[in-house]
Amino acid sequence: MFSATTYTARRAELCRRIGGGLILIPGNGEASYNYPNNTYHFRQDGTFLYYFGLNLPQFFGVIDAATGEATLFGDDVTVDDIIWMGPQPTVVELGAQVGVASTMPTSALAQFVATAVASGQKVHYLPPYRGKTTLQLCSLLGLTPEQLMKGMSVDLMFAVAQMRETKSAEEIEALERAFHIGYDMHTTAMKMCRAGVVEREIAGAIEGIALGQGAGISFTSIVSQHGETLHNHNYNGTLENGRLLLVDAGAESVENYCSDHTRTYPVSGKFTDKQRDIYNIVLAAHQLSPQNMRTGAMYMEDVHRKALIILAEGLRGVGLINGSAEDAVAAGAMYLFMPHGLSHGMGIDVHDCEAMGERSYDFSAIAERAAESATCIHRATWRLRAGTVMSNEPGIYFIPALIDKSRAEGLYKGIVNYDKLDSYRDFGGIRIEDDIIVTDNGGRVIGGDKKIPVTVEELEAFLSR
Ligand code: GLY
Ligand code: MN
Ligand code: MN
Repeated sequence: MFSATTYTARRAELCRRIGGGLILIPGNGEASYNYPNNTYHFRQDGTFLYYFGLNLPQFFGVIDAATGEATLFGDDVTVDDIIWMGPQPTVVELGAQVGVASTMPTSALAQFVATAVASGQKVHYLPPYRGKTTLQLCSLLGLTPEQLMKGMSVDLMFAVAQMRETKSAEEIEALERAFHIGYDMHTTAMKMCRAGVVEREIAGAIEGIALGQGAGISFTSIVSQHGETLHNHNYNGTLENGRLLLVDAGAESVENYCSDHTRTYPVSGKFTDKQRDIYNIVLAAHQLSPQNMRTGAMYMEDVHRKALIILAEGLRGVGLINGSAEDAVAAGAMYLFMPHGLSHGMGIDVHDCEAMGERSYDFSAIAERAAESATCIHRATWRLRAGTVMSNEPGIYFIPALIDKSRAEGLYKGIVNYDKLDSYRDFGGIRIEDDIIVTDNGGRVIGGDKKIPVTVEELEAFLSR
């Protein structure tokens, strides 16, 4: 947690941007996975963490945007709670830690909100992403889930995204701490990588590091020889010489700031010529993209598209694409090789602010506002600002089902060399990922001089130890 002044200043700035009305910021509760008392690892809501800092379940923040007064709703623990959870600070003490002087029991929340609504105050809330939060907001506001989604505050979505997207110095320090945990996770995976090891042994070891050094993993680790499956959570494979292992994994610092890195390397410790050729194409996009991640750049045009062009040029070099790289990109042919974005926002959430982003909701009705806001929650209109933190994760994947579908549909005719592509059907996929801070002069890689091995030479040297 940062000092109380950080949270007080953030809430004041949010009020300045919203101007009036009541802002509801629900914290997360515990989530059960097979019976009520067996809960997942607790993860606080990112926006609640940002404005109220408390990493504990069952709190609810309310801010009066006109007066700036914040109220923390929550309950002091009872002796029954203490038996199971141990002693906890009081709500008053917790509020003081984050600069909130006004606290009330949860039972007072409904009346508090009802009074504001009755007096004509507008109520602002973000679209919920958990069922329990949806039920809680529906009950507080007397709405059906459908009405609730229609009434989400677009003003609040964009204000929160704009504030969360650019990071302060103390946030960057927390992201650096998350990097160092990620470094240990990835180099441990490399040290364990040899034929005969089962993927889950590596997944278990690196997730243990995330928990041992920070607040745990920032997303479910991907440890797979099937790198062509983008979010592969199957760890049953036994490592075999000749194949590539893709590890996409990250950690949260104790303040819940996230890292997200990917490395892909040969199980044998030595790339084959074919693997090295494709690897170096992805590496070129990875190494050149940060220079485009500068203040004012438009993500889609200046960053994502340029990375695709580098990849297309490389694929042309190995004979998988015919004609110019520009034409291949313009025709959409790169979707066949990299069917995902180059970047997403990074911060308290590993896909920062996506809880209110275009992937969660239909933005068509608010496209103009999205364009104006230019935040990472709408990548098509994302304009980079100094202090924006984003991933840089180019990849090339050979996905047989996608190749077959494209070929059967006659897509990218004359551009993609499908006959040659046949010899890559069992290649797998390569992704290389680091986290970048945007500056006026281009992107700075989080981690500074300390770098997870990434070039062919660095990887082969590290893997041979
Ligand atoms: N770890 C998922 C991603 O890179 O977006
Ligand atoms: Mn990743
Ligand atoms: Mn990522």
